[in-house]
Amino acid sequence: AETPDAKNLPPNVPEWSQSLGDGVVSRPYGRPSKFEADVVRRDVEWLTASRQSSVSFTPLHRLEGIITPNGLGFERHHGGIAEIDPAEHRLMIHGLVEKPLVLTLEDVKRFPRVNRIAFLECAANSGMEWKGAQLNGCQFTHGMIHCVMYTGVPLKRLLEEAGLKTNAKWLLPEGADASAMTRSVPIEKALDDAIVAYAMNGEALYPEHGYPLRLVLPGWQGNMWVKWLRRIKVGDEPWHTREETSKYTALLPDGQARRFTWAMDAKSVITDPSPQAPLHRKGFTVLSGLAWSGRGAIRSVDVSLDGGRNWRAARLDGPVLDKALTRFYYEFDWNGDPLLLQSRAIDETGYVQPTKAALRQHRGLNSIYHNNGIQTWHVLPNGEIENVEVA
Ligand code: MTE
Repeated sequence: AETPDAKNLPPNVPEWSQSLGDGVVSRPYGRPSKFEADVVRRDVEWLTASRQSSVSFTPLHRLEGIITPNGLGFERHHGGIAEIDPAEHRLMIHGLVEKPLVLTLEDVKRFPRVNRIAFLECAANSGMEWKGAQLNGCQFTHGMIHCVMYTGVPLKRLLEEAGLKTNAKWLLPEGADASAMTRSVPIEKALDDAIVAYAMNGEALYPEHGYPLRLVLPGWQGNMWVKWLRRIKVGDEPWHTREETSKYTALLPDGQARRFTWAMDAKSVITDPSPQAPLHRKGFTVLSGLAWSGRGAIRSVDVSLDGGRNWRAARLDGPVLDKALTRFYYEFDWNGDPLLLQSRAIDETGYVQPTKAALRQHRGLNSIYHNNGIQTWHVLPNGEIENVEVA
């Protein structure tokens, strides 16, 4: 770090104490301090051919708590960001229903509301790490995730309004963006905890995340959370769209493909220290990280400093919610020796986050999706940190 200008340090009176600051509404929509300008979403340029069908990553290493600010959640678009005038947007519900509906945003807001904190993880999160350690930073290895509070209408209420026919078994939500994203969603999920959301963290959805309407499917892979939601077709069997045949499936070693792998398995990552957040001094060190499970709440998190030989219980702090990010801490004294940092999440079903080796044994090396293996950070004596794998 640069040596700060001593003129603003005690015992001097700092310059910002010597004149009035900007008045109210000089920033009608607030922004972080200019000294936090490096806390931004980033992309990996070589990963995709265009930014319209690409991904940006959440700066997990610089965030606290469990809620992702609205301007920092990763984005994944297949056809760019649709900028939709809500006055010209409708949600159509049709197919195997008694009464097809065409709803305005105002119509949707007249239904009883729910608030729900949920993480959204892309099934491809950590996908670049299947064949070995590659990207240097949890922003890039684990940053296809965000967690916000959604406000919206339970999808169940809208389907009741339309009246499901007895053979209604599947839904096909479709986005209004240029990719016309579609996925087959089983009716059980729709009637359980699915939400048609219009707000995130208390304000209208941001365009990047589907303004004015998006589907929320807590715990399930992000690809199914259709943004810019314009249509839900009700049917009696899945549609086998591109996104559930050639994509978002995993080719196993025996040539079979895993399909309809909806729920995200328990996973965790140490966000600080990590390659983008190196250690600056020896002594008392606060280790911080995130854990989550698409099958329920996090029960516990273990931390290892020696590559998985010894495990100690991390401390969970803040709300521990069903299908939401959960914050954990582990405090220790660093004596300057190299470390192999790992975290391991256990969810309320008793499922234990596996090692990468165990995952590969079952799934082989052809996968991209659902890599929830244990991450290792190698801390060097100078405090720098590398993404590595241990045997
Ligand atoms: N919905 C539409 N209409 N178009 C899209 O490109 N991308 C999907 C999903 N919903 C997508 C979409 C994918 S692959 C993911 S992981 C999530 O949205 C990402 O949501 P986010 O951009 O809010 O992070």
